[in-house]
Amino acid sequence: MVNPLSSVRRRMLPDVALPGIADVRALPDQQFAEAWASIEFPADVKEHLLRTVVSKFHLRRAVPFEAMPLHGVVLLTGAPGVGKTTAAHGLADKVARTIGGLGEWGFIEVDPHALAGSALGRSQRSVEQLFGQTLAEAAAEGPLVVLLDEIETLATDRSALSMEANPIDVHRAVDAALVGIDRLARQNSNVLIIATSNFPKAIDPALTSRADTVVTVPLPDRDIRRRILEHSAAAVVAAFPGAEPLLDSGTLDAAARMSEGIDGRRLRKAVAAACAQRPEALGNPDNVSGEDLLAVLQAMREAQ
Ligand SMILES: Nc1ncnc2c1ncn2[C@@H]1O[C@H](COP(=O)(O)OP(=O)(O)OP(=O)(O)O)[C@@H](O)[C@H]1O
Ligand SMILES: [Mg+2]
Repeated sequence: MVNPLSSVRRRMLPDVALPGIADVRALPDQQFAEAWASIEFPADVKEHLLRTVVSKFHLRRAVPFEAMPLHGVVLLTGAPGVGKTTAAHGLADKVARTIGGLGEWGFIEVDPHALAGSALGRSQRSVEQLFGQTLAEAAAEGPLVVLLDEIETLATDRSALSMEANPIDVHRAVDAALVGIDRLARQNSNVLIIATSNFPKAIDPALTSRADTVVTVPLPDRDIRRRILEHSAAAVVAAFPGAEPLLDSGTLDAAARMSEGIDGRRLRKAVAAACAQRPEALGNPDNVSGEDLLAVLQAMREAQ
């Protein structure tokens, strides 16, 4: 079921075109529910993440900050392609489904690249407007999940910025982002901020120290690689029944064994690449074989 957007959130929709906002939607959201279901993490990791976020959300609303300094920020870090953004979308949906009684949930995804890329003098103003106005107004309307994807772009470690190479504006924009995150979270106990990063070392420590929960998403282990490959293969077979050999259990076992170090995104792409592997198959997924998949993974491994 899709929640109707409240009046303010509906008014915000045109803001999608504003720099810095990548997505606005109401929660729960079916697409995000599917994202959560598609993510394969080690046993109980997803459930534990959800329990942690939900319990801290409840605690933050009821226990004084002086007794328990919770900022409402969860940080997901890890290598590219390990499922951070997908898990963040899914988590937003799950939190909204789990915590009831607060009214209609909203979701806003920030595009930090658009903000950081603004012309000189504009980034700081864009960041201040985003946090002080757009997000604050949305938070005043009801419970809100804010996704700050690739947060290192917005909250770059200031101590690592050289003054010569980076104009003062960059420093000011980072300051504005940190103040904005702090203020938004402090003033609204019904806001959950999910941040993701490939480069946790590049994030300003002022942000990291505010995260209530930091989860490092690992590269997939053998069991998880097998499940990801099987999931993608099953989707291909559903559309192209001739691709059935991709689901052969010996092939999947071998594929999982030989793909150590390959992230979830590249595993899924490997299934697609297998369909183009042999010239005789003419690019028709109905003609793909198990050996095609193993050959693609072998090449990926050698290229690492
Ligand atoms: N553990 C996993 N289980 C299932 N699918 C995965 C997993 N990891 C990655 N994928 C798939 O790989 C693709 C990329 O995932 P996603 O964009 O969430 O990764 P990311 O960690 O945010 O990457 P980046 O750091 O490059 O932004 C998605 O299609 C996702 O479903
Ligand atoms: Mg991502």
